Amino acid sequence: MLSLVVILILSYLVGSIPGSVWVGQLMYGIDVRRYGSGNAGATNVFRVLGWKAGILATVVDLGKGLLAAGVIATLRIDDLPSGFAYWHIETVVRLMAGIAAVLGHMFPVWAGFRGGKGVNTSAGVLLALTPVTTLITAAVFVVVLLISRYVSLASIVAAIAFPSTVAIRKYVFGIESLDASLLVFGVVLAVIVIWAHRSNIRRLLSGTENRVRTFRPARG
Ligand code: G3P
Repeated sequence: MLSLVVILILSYLVGSIPGSVWVGQLMYGIDVRRYGSGNAGATNVFRVLGWKAGILATVVDLGKGLLAAGVIATLRIDDLPSGFAYWHIETVVRLMAGIAAVLGHMFPVWAGFRGGKGVNTSAGVLLALTPVTTLITAAVFVVVLLISRYVSLASIVAAIAFPSTVAIRKYVFGIESLDASLLVFGVVLAVIVIWAHRSNIRRLLSGTENRVRTFRPARG
């Protein structure tokens, strides 16, 4: 179990790297959490600081998930059981590492435990595990975003779309290589991401949510 604990701690620490906060502070001298939606996420960096900073924050957040689930979780695991009856232990460890990274992103030890909503970091985790399902989910995100111009709504729908797509691909199209643990952890990630969007849901319901309008800096 020691290596699992080490993997989870490392993943949490990597997930805690506050890309959005550091991009704002180091490159522009501001804390994005004091502007726009107040969220320490790439969407708010796009909104407050423009597309260059937004892309950088997106890459950092995606990279954290990829690093945790794609690299850290593959560190030598020599003290774990060889597998469960229905789930592959390697996939489960990668998903656990991914969730540790997402929780790090949301509650970053390096930034006062005030982080983002975990969408890009989740996407990085899932990209490392099932790229095709993740790209289908990303397409759903883009379609909802283009139609609604709400990033939050697109994120919530994508969070639901991922486990749904796993289920359809696995049980309707019979893609055996998709581990059932992806479905279970996909639901867990969806619950985490939707919970993180509770203030957005309130704004969506009251008609006051921010729509994507422009990529020009709109600080304040
Ligand atoms: O990934 C976060 C996004 O869905 C919403 O961000 O800044 O509009 O709350 P924001």
